[in-house]
Amino acid sequence: MRVLVLNGPNLGRLGSREPEVYGSASYDDLVASCARWGRDLGLDVEVRQTDDETELVGWIHEATDSETPVVLNPAAFTHYSYALRDACAQLIAGLVEVHISNPEARETFRHSSVISGVATGTIAGFGIDSYRLALAAIAPHQPGT
Ligand code: DQA
Repeated sequence: MRVLVLNGPNLGRLGSREPEVYGSASYDDLVASCARWGRDLGLDVEVRQTDDETELVGWIHEATDSETPVVLNPAAFTHYSYALRDACAQLIAGLVEVHISNPEARETFRHSSVISGVATGTIAGFGIDSYRLALAAIAPHQPGT
């Protein structure tokens, strides 16, 4: 099963960006970890990142048209992008919203997500392991597990 792991603005700067909040793993480390976790779960994972709302909305349309499940870290778009929410509302094969930090435990403006209401579920606060948990939520369950 193919899964798109999509990342919004500033996540390409992981590793150097506020490491006390987002940890020391770089974006390349995240890509490699997602590929490995995907392999272990029997998923064909493609990871992308953009700082551009238009591009991200286009990728969500692509996932809708191909009925591909999505793991999405909308980054700051989480808190205000109705365009991204409206795109996500069209997804067919499932959407897991992920966050590296726990936005609820941070500044007030991070406490609301415009994406959560159209997501299958949300995983936040476990560092980059949030992505592993999101992929596990999407993977078809193996017999006996
Ligand atoms: C984030 C949390 C958002 O509030 C923030 O704007 C980000 C990253 C996270 O992964 O913890 O860019 O989505």
